[in-house]
Amino acid sequence: MTDIATLESSILAEIDAAASEDALEAVRVGSLGKKGSISEQMKTLGKMSAEERQTKGPLLNGLKTRIADAITGRKDILKREGIEARLVNEQVDVTLPVRRDPLQAGRIHPISQVMDEITAIFADMGFSVAEGPDIETDYYNFTALNFPEGHPAREMHDTFFLNPGESDEKLVLRTHTSPVQIRTMETQKPPIRIVIPGKTYRQDSDATHSAMFHQLEGLVVDEKSNIANLKWTLLEFCKAFFEVDDINMRFRPSFFPFTEPSLEVDIQCDRSGAEVKFGEGDDWMEILGSGMVHPNVLRAGGLDPDVYQGFAWGIGIDRIAMLKYGMPDLRPFFEADQRWIDHYGFRPLDMPTLFGGLSS
Ligand code: DAH
Repeated sequence: MTDIATLESSILAEIDAAASEDALEAVRVGSLGKKGSISEQMKTLGKMSAEERQTKGPLLNGLKTRIADAITGRKDILKREGIEARLVNEQVDVTLPVRRDPLQAGRIHPISQVMDEITAIFADMGFSVAEGPDIETDYYNFTALNFPEGHPAREMHDTFFLNPGESDEKLVLRTHTSPVQIRTMETQKPPIRIVIPGKTYRQDSDATHSAMFHQLEGLVVDEKSNIANLKWTLLEFCKAFFEVDDINMRFRPSFFPFTEPSLEVDIQCDRSGAEVKFGEGDDWMEILGSGMVHPNVLRAGGLDPDVYQGFAWGIGIDRIAMLKYGMPDLRPFFEADQRWIDHYGFRPLDMPTLFGGLSS
């Protein structure tokens, strides 16, 4: 009988040692399977005498039952251990902060937002958007815009000049978006109704000036556009942009080489509180330059000034963004400070539209 006892203790040891359900299954096949050690013993019963079988039979059956029970018991333990291990490994700390959805984390820069707002307003009035190069020739930046050679207005622009390239054309970083007026007239027949948003450059920097800044140019050329149309266009733009029902505007005579007459536009505002308010108050704020396109500019664009006329304007985008959104300093616009953009930036899917609200 000791062979049965030995067999039992060695199988029980294997069962205890089985560290996984697969290992346990291998022990089961090795003992109770068709060719397993216990099954082999059972096969010997047939060759035994009836007497021998009577004693050995119950012993072997008892062994078979105990091993089967031991396997089932071990299986339960392994299952429970598996579940406990998963509970530990797959634990979720529900007290951790939720990760920000990328759509919530990204922000649109106020300059891009304001450009989109302005584009939405003028698109609604039937304007299209035109663009031109940041590196301009002296001709497009000055000469074609009626700045005579050596004229002091060229100095007023604090121009960045580039080293001459292979051709000896003089190159500059454009000091305004006005050169795109000429480029458009050269390629497009009137009626022209365009706005030109873009980067501009001057050697100037303090709290309200940066060497790179943004302008929005507007140009209308056809056979009969006049100053009344200019005033209406700018008034409607200001009301829509500052999101107020009424705004008072003041047009002051001014000088730009590319317009005649030239006008500077102020809007009425109230600066008594912490924020500037438009449409009320007794203060004035200059927001843009404008005028009727000079005949020499039309000529430079290839248009006959006896047939065509029009008006133009230029606005500093950074400045009106600061005004609208109450940003006191221009420099952080270009400092890429995450905290600033988190505070002043706009949600990427809140596209400005006239019907949905520009800044809501
Ligand atoms: N180009 C001018 C500047 O940068 C702004 C300007 C004034 C543009 C009058 C215009 C205009 O189109 O008519 O200071």
